[in-house]
Amino acid sequence: MGERIFIGVAWPYANGPLHLGHVAGAYLPADIFARYHRTKGNEVLMVSGSDQHGTPITIQAEQEGKKPAEVANFYHQQFLESWKKLGISFDLYTATGTDNHARVTSDIFLTLLEKGYIYKASMSQPYCPNCQRFLPDRYSEGTCPYCHFTGARGDQCDKCGKPLNASELINPRCRRCGTTPIFKESEHFFLKLDAFSDKLKEWVSQQKHWRANVLNFTRGYLEEGLKGRAITRDIDWGIPVPVAGFEGKRIYVWFEAVIGYLSASQEWAESTGDDDKWRVFWQDKETKSYYFIGKDNIIFHTVIWPAMLMGCGDLNLPYDVPANEFLTIEGSKLSTSRHWAVWLPDYLSRYDPDPLRYLLSINMPETGDTDFSWREFFRRNNDELVATYGNLVHRVLTFTYRNFDGRVPQAGEFDSQTRALLKRAEDTLKTMDELLYHCHFKEAIKSAMSLAQESNRYLDDKAPWKTIKQDRQASATALQAAISVLSCLRTVLYPFLPFSSQKLHASLGFGGSVESDGWQLHFPPPGQKLLPPQPLFTKLEEALAEEESSRLGNIHR
Ligand code: MF3
Ligand code: ZN
Repeated sequence: MGERIFIGVAWPYANGPLHLGHVAGAYLPADIFARYHRTKGNEVLMVSGSDQHGTPITIQAEQEGKKPAEVANFYHQQFLESWKKLGISFDLYTATGTDNHARVTSDIFLTLLEKGYIYKASMSQPYCPNCQRFLPDRYSEGTCPYCHFTGARGDQCDKCGKPLNASELINPRCRRCGTTPIFKESEHFFLKLDAFSDKLKEWVSQQKHWRANVLNFTRGYLEEGLKGRAITRDIDWGIPVPVAGFEGKRIYVWFEAVIGYLSASQEWAESTGDDDKWRVFWQDKETKSYYFIGKDNIIFHTVIWPAMLMGCGDLNLPYDVPANEFLTIEGSKLSTSRHWAVWLPDYLSRYDPDPLRYLLSINMPETGDTDFSWREFFRRNNDELVATYGNLVHRVLTFTYRNFDGRVPQAGEFDSQTRALLKRAEDTLKTMDELLYHCHFKEAIKSAMSLAQESNRYLDDKAPWKTIKQDRQASATALQAAISVLSCLRTVLYPFLPFSSQKLHASLGFGGSVESDGWQLHFPPPGQKLLPPQPLFTKLEEALAEEESSRLGNIHR
């Protein structure tokens, strides 16, 4: 019996284009994991969607002179396009603006209210006398009470990652006009987080398999003591509060965005024609739920969402939250406001998806921040994808195609060197299985690349292009062994490089998909007809690296 895996991926704010930080932080690792499990024959549900509410959207809309809905829908469409081109294989990518999501959010709100986990209280809220409005979340800025960073926002400090209430900010100011806000009382609903304190601590203490950064950050947060958190806002963009007297207020964007994982699962179930199909992913205790997110979202996924799930009862808690660290760009912190970012639609308009997937996998910010540079991108594309892996594939397949009638040759007896190579392929499949299962993506792809290197050495030694003249059998044996390794590589590299793996799969004469062929050594049998070989990757002009770097920091979308 296979396993059942739920994969939730952070919902990106639909307020600007996606960039490489998003990809490396959450979407790529989630996709690798999903493709790996599907190839293993496991049942996978991977969902996410655009986060269309909250002040990130309204602020952007104000800046562009548009309605929040216009901005949110525009970027949602753009995101869908990017996922398709990059090959992020969601089972459903939806948005928080759907009726379904609003309904599920209301239901959960009312359930928690009824169970006494949501309460009403009056709260002092920053109000800008100059702009004449409340300043929820990102509308107010000030100094973080925990780390004293001066650019903290009303909802979270980006420096230390702590979620905040606006009233905790030291020296608050209005983001738009800089005026010091006055504080006005306003009625809001609060999530009674403190009610879950003991249960959360107990649960977190059992999560020995979590990454150290995730575990430490979560423990630290729980140790400081949990307080009630406001989950409604004085704002008119978002999901209405399902209680009379709150018509002018909206549900807090974070409270509803995390509910998206559940509402998207239900929307997906409906789309399959079996409305209850989401249940096994959320209610069967055998299902493992993974949440792929960046490190700035840890608390929402290891404390707040679990508390909400505990409050509802009968819904699975996260099994793992493999949060990644940050990706810096050419040595500096990624900043969308300074345009220090590589925008995904931009990248995809000029280059193929696999070279980016490759670089961000082998350089994934799993246990610490890593850096993206165009120079490294070009170098790795040319030296590793083209010269190591691509060249291995190309020389084996073109030579075989020309000299063995376009078919997999029949090997003679394997010598010890050949047996060792095939053993190495078998070991790689096993090692990578283990590594991917535990979300060690960087190490996994390294192990595949070292198999490719080893195979190049094997070929250089065996030189089938020389032996073919005196000993055709020896040449056939080396080529058949090399083709077997290629067949292993198309499988193990598929989660990382789905486009080129599928191409190689077809070149080797296989029908259907790599995924349906399964996570196994399945060698093409002697006599199998190959397709005319095509290069898997393209060499890139390294001089372009400079041109690409110089776009950074420019106003360029
Ligand atoms: N929109 C948030 C961000 O970009 C992430 C939301 S993740 C989810 O930081 F939990 F809400 F799904
Ligand atoms: Zn103001």
